[in-house]
Amino acid sequence: MEEIRAFNPEHDEEIEQKLRPSQFDDYIGQDKVKENMQIFVEAALRRGETLDHVLLYGQPGLGKTTLSAIIAGEMGANLRVTTGPAIERPGDIAAVLNDLTEGDFLFIDEIHRLSRTVEEMLYSAMEDFVFDIIIGKGPGARSIRLELPRFTLIGATTRIGLLTAPLRDRFGVVHHLEPYSVEDLQKIVMRSASVLGVEIEPPGAEEIARRARGTPRIVNRLLKRVRDFAQVKFDGVITEEVAVSSLDRLEIDKLGLDVVDKKILRAIIDKFGGGPVGLDTLAASVDEEPGTLEDVAEPYLLQLGFIQRTPRGRIATNAAYMHFGLEISHEKTDAQISLTEAQ
Ligand code: ADE
Repeated sequence: MEEIRAFNPEHDEEIEQKLRPSQFDDYIGQDKVKENMQIFVEAALRRGETLDHVLLYGQPGLGKTTLSAIIAGEMGANLRVTTGPAIERPGDIAAVLNDLTEGDFLFIDEIHRLSRTVEEMLYSAMEDFVFDIIIGKGPGARSIRLELPRFTLIGATTRIGLLTAPLRDRFGVVHHLEPYSVEDLQKIVMRSASVLGVEIEPPGAEEIARRARGTPRIVNRLLKRVRDFAQVKFDGVITEEVAVSSLDRLEIDKLGLDVVDKKILRAIIDKFGGGPVGLDTLAASVDEEPGTLEDVAEPYLLQLGFIQRTPRGRIATNAAYMHFGLEISHEKTDAQISLTEAQ
């Protein structure tokens, strides 16, 4: 009988840390972004300068934070992490900037959610490394200029379209992170399994990778759950059979669609006659936030070609009907064609 360990949060955090690669050499995938960033880092190091501000955008879970930590680490610098919604007032951004030392990296996740006032205060900080604080109100108000150390801002966003042009233009490096290929995700599973100390066969890793919708965060989460099944229901080794059986039990289908994705597609098909249906109506009908639906579920459904965004709302495509083994009515097909053409 194995010894059963009590919950140990420190141990869990340590594992999470270890699952994240800490240098470019261990980072799998995103080859173009990685190669470019390696060059910019090396050039900045050789010149003894800080790196230009970097903007990373792409779906949630593609490793924007991980990549930022690697960039800062390779520059031998500290990384301060915060998020757009956490910096509400001018005083919040003043405190964050005031805390920086020369060469630090400041990571702002969900940078599209900064308020306009805070965003405007960032402009001079990014461009000239100065920060103007307004003291007092009305006619007696005056401004004090603070000199900031040279720092690098790494902004991350899932919604590049929501960034204003003046903010976007202040980033010297802009990179788009793409969904990962199954091969790269399989490599990540093999690496993570070795970090977790679980035995896995390559076909088992491939099965997990296939159902992870192009996302390292999901692949690692699935791996941990499959490991649970492997240890309790099987002999501890993740074979293809173990992976298939575990993922089926988790109701994650062959394409990686989970219960929520299926609920969304079935709502469009069953409740709204295949669409078009507006985002808010659809979100309410599946009990999700519109933002979550748009940022988390939709990108993959769009990528699979299961839904389309039209000016009048979302529609389910023929491929979605086929995925559920449903008949497509001619009326529906014609309506979809005319809507798509109208775009
Ligand atoms: N774990 C999460 N993302 C990873 C990546 N890109 N490479 C290696 N391991 C990872």
